[in-house]
Formats: sequence, structure tokens, C-alpha cells
Amino acid sequence: MPINDEIDQEIYDVGAPLIDSRLMQKAKEQTHHGKTTVYDHTIAVTREAVRICDHYRGQKELNRENVIIGALCHDMAMVGRSEKYRNNFITCIRHPKDSVIIAKEFFVDMDPAVKKIIRRHMWPLSLVPPTSVEEWIVLRADKIVSVKDVM
Ligand SMILES: [Fe+2]
Ligand SMILES: [Fe+2]
Repeated sequence: MPINDEIDQEIYDVGAPLIDSRLMQKAKEQTHHGKTTVYDHTIAVTREAVRICDHYRGQKELNRENVIIGALCHDMAMVGRSEKYRNNFITCIRHPKDSVIIAKEFFVDMDPAVKKIIRRHMWPLSLVPPTSVEEWIVLRADKIVSVKDVM
């Protein structure tokens, strides 16, 4: 991952175990939202999420490390999706749950709160809405970037 600024450095400092992994290499080959890749989408969402954290600096108590790990992992189960999931609907429903499993492999001491960040990033599809600021931030970053991905 190229380090362009302080945001990238912070992301790398927290996320190196995943960023330097073979899975992340594979994410560069996995298409996502038609014209991007899981890797590019993931990095864009994480950068956006950190920018949103910065926006709330001094206004809201939030755990930046949880936001970064949640953002980096939120779509990791999308890698190899066609071998794992029968169709797009199943993919939408199952990838948040499976991404939690992947997150736990890379971040063994992960705060349990990260699980909800990942599980609820697809809300309203997840039915249960986010309850923490960190969950809302990753959801918001994912929506912003996803719209840019498809436009
Ligand atoms: Fe997703
Ligand atoms: Fe996403």
C-alpha cells in the first residue's frame, strides 16, 4: 500500500497484518462494484472513514483503531466470492458475517466491538441498525465510496 500522507500511515500502523497479507494481494484481483477491486474499495473506504473520524475530532469519543480495522475488514470475504456464494443475494447476506471471521484471524486481540462494525455495514440490509459511532462511520464511508465506485 502506498503511504501518501498521515492518514495512510495511521491505516498502515494499525492494519499492517492484513495489508501485507496474501489475502490483500488477492483482493487486488477481485473485481468489486463492476469497475473497481476489493483492494481499491477497501483502501478508499478506510481512508474515508479516517477522514470522518478527523471531522468529529473533539466532538465525539470514538475508537479510531476499531474504525480502521472494521473498514479494512468489512468486505474481505468478497475475495473469492464466486467460489463461496451461489448468487449476489447470498453474497450480500453472508459476506459481513464471513468478514468477521477473517478479521479475527488477522487481528487476534480485536475489540469485540469491531464485529458489529463489520456485521452492520450493509444496513439497512442487515436489518439491525448500527448503534455505535464507529459502526455509523464505517457504514457512511462504505456508502460514499460505493456510490463513487459505480458512478
Ligand atoms: Fe459489503
Ligand atoms: Fe464495502
